[in-house]
Amino acid sequence: MHNGVHILGIESSCDETAAAVVRSGEQTESNVVLSQMATHGIYGGVVPELASREHLRGIAPVVRQALKEAGQDYRSIDAIAVTRGPGLAGSLLVGVSYAKALAFSLEKPLIAVNHLEGHIHSVLLEEKQRNNREIGFPVLALVVSGGHTHLFLCKPLGRSFEPKSNEALMHRAGDGNAMPAAGVAWKYELIGRTRDDAAGEAYDKVAKLLGLGYPGGPVIDRLAKHGDARAVPFSTSQIKHRERGAESANFFDFSFSGIKTAVLRYVELNAMRDQVEARRKKLGAIPKPSSQDYLDACDRRTLDLVASFQHTVVEDLVTKTMKAAEQFQPATIFVTGGVAANSELRRRFEEVSAQRGLPVYFPSLRLATDNAAMIAAAAYPKFLMQEFADFHFSADASLALR
Ligand code: KG4
Ligand code: ZN
Repeated sequence: MHNGVHILGIESSCDETAAAVVRSGEQTESNVVLSQMATHGIYGGVVPELASREHLRGIAPVVRQALKEAGQDYRSIDAIAVTRGPGLAGSLLVGVSYAKALAFSLEKPLIAVNHLEGHIHSVLLEEKQRNNREIGFPVLALVVSGGHTHLFLCKPLGRSFEPKSNEALMHRAGDGNAMPAAGVAWKYELIGRTRDDAAGEAYDKVAKLLGLGYPGGPVIDRLAKHGDARAVPFSTSQIKHRERGAESANFFDFSFSGIKTAVLRYVELNAMRDQVEARRKKLGAIPKPSSQDYLDACDRRTLDLVASFQHTVVEDLVTKTMKAAEQFQPATIFVTGGVAANSELRRRFEEVSAQRGLPVYFPSLRLATDNAAMIAAAAYPKFLMQEFADFHFSADASLALR
């Protein structure tokens, strides 16, 4: 029986090959993610050529697995959605080419999705899944990951989040069932973005320079709990901005390359280099280091440094987001993307949002990092609007979200 709209999502913008099936933008039927961590780990960061090769290797089995787990097949799905950008050009191209070939041969509609829109919709997907219909708009979304640190003001154009049954809002879906339009078209206003490194990139670079491996976020998150966050007084990574007013568009921009350099300087000034090398060797010899292994490899000064770094980054993200909230008066805050998995970031956002009476939502850890369920979910309003891509569109490494 055909029940709802089943969209197959494909995501390959960075170092995860992912496919998922989501029903009607609100029910995840499958969510398969093939991580390339093992390939890139030894280099301490994503190597673009290797990423493309791994996507080529993984994409067909990952899509097959996602269909199988959802109890679907190539014929039964209603549409194919794919990440068009932003991301690594060669990686995006694998997903886009594969999705185009599938859509062409199966004669299914193809939907191009912006990766950042996907991260925003990961929150909506899960809230709908738990039947939360209370989300107020506009939403101020902080998308914070290894590649991005962006603040967007998000509005569904002209309509509420989930319109009540209303003839005027009914659209015909693939099987002829009338479907309510879930939020119609979305409008995204860019409020601020990083001028240099993304926050996740700073986590990864700091972890690398401290001999803690890749990716750095989860390791620093765990180690920071054991250090004194006030021990090293880093100044907030505040970039120079012009006065509020005419140039206020710059006011909410971020910059995280300064703090990375400050950590490096601290390591050098305190003669920690030999210790870092020893740690790199020690952890490198353990196939899958446990939290205790990481902890045993760090002295107090390193733990304090890690905790102080995290404290500075988290406070900057929280403070600027809350300042933007004061100016733009959103009804809700979303914090999403890989760094939204960070426990201190969540704790601090929950604290300040409770103080201000402004609800904040995060995706689950599984949906915070790159996945294709968020791509299939973001495609659903576009499916209802029949906003389909033609076969001439191409991957766009620096695609803007509007
Ligand atoms: O969203 P994502 O999977 O990929 C991009 O679109 O970039 O995010 C990956 C990033 C990495 O930089 C990783 O270190 C960071 O998210 N990350 C974290 C945590 N878990 C992942 N950063 C801080 N704390 C975490 N718990
Ligand atoms: Zn991402």
